[in-house]
Amino acid sequence: MPRTSPTFALAATLVATAAVGGCDDKKPSDGDKKPAATATATAPKSIHPPIPKVPGGLEPVQAPKDNPTTPAKVALGHMLFFDKRLSADGSRACYSCHQNEDGTGGHEPTAIGAMEKPLTRHAPIIWNVAYLPKLYWDGRSDSLEAQAKGAWGGGNMGVGPDNLKKKADEIAKIDGYKKLFYEVFPGKGVSPTTIAQALAAYERTLLCGDTAWDKFQAGDKSALSAEQQKGLTLFTGKAGCHECHTPPMFSDAYASKDGAFHNVGVGLDGKKKEDADPGRAKASENDADFAQFKTPTLRNVSKSAPYFHDGSIAKLDEAVKFMAGGGFANPGRDPKLKDRKLSDEEIAQLVAFLGSLTCPDSLEEPKLP
Ligand code: HEC
Ligand code: HEC
Repeated sequence: MPRTSPTFALAATLVATAAVGGCDDKKPSDGDKKPAATATATAPKSIHPPIPKVPGGLEPVQAPKDNPTTPAKVALGHMLFFDKRLSADGSRACYSCHQNEDGTGGHEPTAIGAMEKPLTRHAPIIWNVAYLPKLYWDGRSDSLEAQAKGAWGGGNMGVGPDNLKKKADEIAKIDGYKKLFYEVFPGKGVSPTTIAQALAAYERTLLCGDTAWDKFQAGDKSALSAEQQKGLTLFTGKAGCHECHTPPMFSDAYASKDGAFHNVGVGLDGKKKEDADPGRAKASENDADFAQFKTPTLRNVSKSAPYFHDGSIAKLDEAVKFMAGGGFANPGRDPKLKDRKLSDEEIAQLVAFLGSLTCPDSLEEPKLP
C-alpha cells in the first residue's frame, strides 16, 4: 500500500525546535534595509533574504538547539557553500560537486576531490538533506554540522582535519567574512565550528516539496500525465519500489532515526569481497551490513545521472531496469528486491513517473565577499 503521508520520525538526535520558515515574507528591498551600524548583541534583521518557506507537504525543518537557523546565518552559509577558497588548493567549493546541472548530485561517476584526488563514491543529491538522520551512502555521519567538517577536512576539499583552524584563520582575513561572522556568531567569529554551522544552516533551507507529484498528491489530478500516472501505479504496486523509496521523500532513510540501508548488489558484479565497497558494514562494524547503502531519494533523480553509489550506471532507464530486475543477485541481497518482470513499456512508464519528482528550484550563485 502506498504510504503517502508518513509522519516523519525526525531524528531524535536533533532535539531542538528552531523551525525554518514562518519567517516574514519581506524581500530585502521591502523597507528596513538600514545598515547594521548600531551593532547590538542580537544580529540585525532583514538586510538578508528571509529564510525560504518550507514548501507545502513537507514537515518543518528541525535545527539543533546550538545552531538555530537565522536569515543572516543562512546567507553566510550560502556564500561559504559556493566559495572555492574553502578548499586546500582553491579548486573546489561544496557546490563544485553538488551542481544544479547534475540535480545537485555529482557530475563524475565517482567524485574527484581537491588536488584531483579520486574519491570512491558518487555525490548524492542534496535537496532535503535537512531531513536525513544519517548522512552519506553508509550513514557514517549524524549531523549536517559534522558532515560539513568531514567534507571540508577530508578528500572532497582536501584541507585535512588538522588544518581546519588554519583555513578558518585565512577566511577570517577576508574583510567581508570577518564582519559577517561576528554578526552571526557574536563573541565567536570565524572558527571551524562556526563555518560548519553556517554551512549546515544553509543546507537546511535546500528543500524540494513542490514537484508535479506533490501537486498531484495535493489534489491536482492534471499534474501528472496519463503515462506518469501509470508509472505511479506501478511504482507503488507491481514494481514494489515504494517499499524502499517510500514517499514523500522517496526513500525510507528519511523517516527512520537509524537510517535505512539495503544491499541491492551494486558494485559487486565481478568483484572479490575484499575489493568491494563494504558500504554500511564499515560504519556499523557489522559484517551483516556488507554492501548495504542508504536508499537515495528519487526527488530530482531525472537530473542526477550517473546513478548509484559508484556512479556505475549512466542512464535512468538502465538504473530503473536494474532495480526492477531485482538488482544484482548476491548472498546479502535484500529480499524486497526481485525480478518484477516488467515490460519495456512499463519501464518507460516508471521513468516517466520519476520525471514528476523533479525539483522546481535551483541553488543560486551568491555574491562572495
Ligand atoms: C569533490 C566533490 C565533493 C565536494 C567538493 C563536496 N562534496 Fe559533498 N559529497 C560528495 C560525495 C562523493 C559524497 C558521498 C560520500 C559518501 O557517501 O561516502 C557527498 C556527500 C555529501 C552529503 C551527504 C548527503 C547524503 O545524502 O547523505 C552532504 C550533506 C554534502 N556532501 C555536503 C557537502 C558540503 C557542505 C561540502 C563542502 C564543505 C561538500 N559536500 C563538498 C562529494 C563532494
Ligand atoms: C530493497 C530496497 C529497494 C527497492 C525495493 C528499490 N530500491 Fe532503488 N535503490 C535502493 C538502494 C539501496 C539504492 C542505492 C544502491 C547503491 O547505490 O548501491 C537504490 C538506487 C536506486 C536508483 C539510483 C538513484 C541514485 O541517485 O543513484 C534508482 C533510479 C532506483 N533505485 C529506482 C528504483 C525503482 C524504480 C525501484 C522499483 C522498481 C526500486 N528502486 C526499488 C533500494 C531499493
